[in-house]
Amino acid sequence: MFLPASYINTMRFRTLCVLALVLFASIDLSVAQFKSKSSFSPGELWLDNNGVHINAHGGGILLHQGIYYWFGEHKWNGNTALVGVHVYSSRDLYNWKDEGIALAVSEDPASEITKGCIIERPKVIYNEATKKFVMWFHLEYKGRDYKEARVGLATSDKVTGPFTYIRSFRPNAGHWPIEATDEFKSPADPEKEKALKGRAAVIGGRFVRRDYERGQMSRDMTLYVDDDRKAYLLTSSEENQTLHLHELTEDYTGFTGKWTRIFPGNENEGPAIFKHKGKYYMISSGCTGWKPNPARSGVADSILGPWKSMGNPCRGTDQEKKTTFESQSTFILPAPDRPDSFIFMGDRWRPENSSDGRYVWLPIEWEGDKPVLNWHAEWNMSVFSEK
Ligand code: GAL
Repeated sequence: MFLPASYINTMRFRTLCVLALVLFASIDLSVAQFKSKSSFSPGELWLDNNGVHINAHGGGILLHQGIYYWFGEHKWNGNTALVGVHVYSSRDLYNWKDEGIALAVSEDPASEITKGCIIERPKVIYNEATKKFVMWFHLEYKGRDYKEARVGLATSDKVTGPFTYIRSFRPNAGHWPIEATDEFKSPADPEKEKALKGRAAVIGGRFVRRDYERGQMSRDMTLYVDDDRKAYLLTSSEENQTLHLHELTEDYTGFTGKWTRIFPGNENEGPAIFKHKGKYYMISSGCTGWKPNPARSGVADSILGPWKSMGNPCRGTDQEKKTTFESQSTFILPAPDRPDSFIFMGDRWRPENSSDGRYVWLPIEWEGDKPVLNWHAEWNMSVFSEK
C-alpha cells in the first residue's frame, strides 16, 4: 500500500511524542516517588530513589556528616549471601538513595566471604582516630549452615565502600567474662556440673567453658558506640542462649579481652541497644528463626551490667504483642534533631521470597521509664514533638 511521505512523517512524529511522554512520565514518577515520602509506613513496600524496594535487611544505620547510611543484607533468591551488604543514603530517613554494594561477596571459593556464605545483620561504625569505617557482621562459612557462629570484620576509607574484608573471629578466645568466679572457670565438683541440664547448665557456664580456647560463639549481633567513644559488640552466643557484650579495641577492629554475659539462658536474639538519660536500654527478640515472637526489653545503669529485664515492650492486641507487630528487632536509631527520641527498626522476614522482606520502623514511646512500642500504620517525626 502506498502512503504519502507527509503521512509517514506525521506518524513518526506522533510515535516519538508518545515515547517522549512515556519516558517523561516514568522519570517524573520515580522522582515523585523519591521526593514524596514524608512518613513511614511500617510493613509496606519501601521504594528507593529508583522505585525499587529497599534491599537492606537485618540492617543498621550510621549518621555521618549529616547523612544517614543504612547498611543491610542484600537478599536475593534465598538467604545465603549472593551479593553482599547493600548501602543506602538519606537526609530525612523517609527517602533513600541506592548507594550500591558496600561489601561484595567474593568470587574466590577460598575466601571466607565467598558467594553462598551467610552474611547477616551488618553494622557500621566510624572511628574518629583512624578515620576508617568499620563493619562487623554475622558470618557463616559457605555450606556450614549456622554452625560456625563467627563475626566478620571489614573496613573502608569511604562510608559507602567498597569495604575490604579483613578477617573473622570467634570472640575473646582465652578470656573469661569479667564476672567469672573460680568456680565458674573450673567447677569444683565436675560430676555435679555434668548432671546439670538445660538452662541451669547454660547459666552455670557450660558453653563458655566449652568455647574458652576457641573463642565464644557469635550470631545475631549489633554494635554500640558509647559517649566516651568506646565501642561494643553485643551478640547472641552460647547456642543463642546468652548475650555477650564484648568491648572493642580503640580502633574498633579487635577485642580488648573485657567482656560480660547478659541474661544467661534467656535465648535473646536480634539485640538492639540505645542510651536514654544516662541509662542503657535494650530491645531484643526470642529465638524462633524467621518466625516472629514477643520482643523483650531490658535496662542497665552501666553497659557492662547488671541488666534488668523489663518484659515485652509491645502494646496493642495479643497478636501484636506475640509477634512484635510481625517483626524482629535489628537496630535502634536516635531520631534526627529530637533529643531523647528513638526509632525502633525491625524486620518482617519473608524467607520464601527473601528480598520482599519488609521493614517495621516504629517510634519508641515511654510509660514512665519503660520504653514501649505501639503500632502506627503511618507516622512521621512529629509524633516525637507531640510528647
Ligand atoms: C533468626 C535470626 C536471623 C537469621 C534467622 C535464620 O533468628 O535473627 O538473623 O539468622 O534466624 O533462621
